[in-house]
Amino acid sequence: MPYECDVITLFPEMFNAITQYGVTGKANKNGIFRLNLWNPRDFSENSYRAVDDSPYGGGPGMVMMAKPLETAIMNARDRQRTLGIDKTEVVYLTPQGQRFNHRMAERLSQSQGVILLCGRYEGIDERVITRQVDAEISIGDYVVSGGELAAMVVIDSVVRLIPGTLGDPESAEQESFVNGLLDYPHYTRPEQYCDSRVPEVLLSGNHAQIRRWRLQQALGKTWLKRPDLLELKEMQGMTEEETMLLDAFKRSCKG
Ligand code: ADE
Repeated sequence: MPYECDVITLFPEMFNAITQYGVTGKANKNGIFRLNLWNPRDFSENSYRAVDDSPYGGGPGMVMMAKPLETAIMNARDRQRTLGIDKTEVVYLTPQGQRFNHRMAERLSQSQGVILLCGRYEGIDERVITRQVDAEISIGDYVVSGGELAAMVVIDSVVRLIPGTLGDPESAEQESFVNGLLDYPHYTRPEQYCDSRVPEVLLSGNHAQIRRWRLQQALGKTWLKRPDLLELKEMQGMTEEETMLLDAFKRSCKG
C-alpha cells in the first residue's frame, strides 16, 4: 500500500516538482507514495472563493480563515480513514514549529500516511492549530513564502526512507545523518583531475580499508564542519574504532 500524503494547499500545481521529477517522481509512478491535494478555495463559502481575511487587532497582511482549512482537513481525514488509516497525523508547516531533522523524517516514514497543512499570507487562524494540528514542523530558522516548499522538503526526505524508493537498498542506510555523521567524500572518473588525484585507498579494492577510510572521513568532516553533531554522537557513545579513527584524523590535521 502506498504511503498516503494529503496536502492542503492554495497552490497544488507546485507539487508537480516532486511528482514529476527525479527520485520522488519515480517513487510516485511506482506507487510508493500517493499525493492527494486539497485546495481550501474549493471549500470557501464565499462567492469570490476567498480564503483569507484581515487580522483581528490590526496589523499587516491577511490570515487564512478557519472554515475552508478545517473542511479541507476533514476531507483529507475522511479519505485516509476510508483507506483504513485512522490515526493520521496532521502536520502544520510553520517557522514556529519544531526544527525538522532525520529522526522526524524516520518517524513519519514509519507511519502509513500524513496530512500536511500549508499556510500562506501571515499565517492561519490559531483555532485551526488548536483544534486540528498534531505537530508543527519548521524546515529551519528563516521564512519562506508559504508552507509548500517546506511540505515538499518533508515529503521528499520521508519518501527516500521508504523501502523501494532508492534503487540500492544500502543507499538510504549510507546517507548523511543516518549514523549521526555527515557523509564521506565521493569521487568518480577520471583518477586525475587537474592537479588532484583520487585517494589511493579507493583504487585499492581493499573493501575493509575503504570502509575504514570512509568512516574516518565522515567522523573528521563532522568534527570540522558540525561539532554540534559530533558532540551528540560522542554523548550517545562511539565505538572504539570510531574513537581511534577520529583521534588519528585530528592528529593528521595538526600535521
Ligand atoms: N513556512 C514559512 N517558512 C517556513 C519554515 N521555515 N518552515 C516551515 N514552514 C514555513
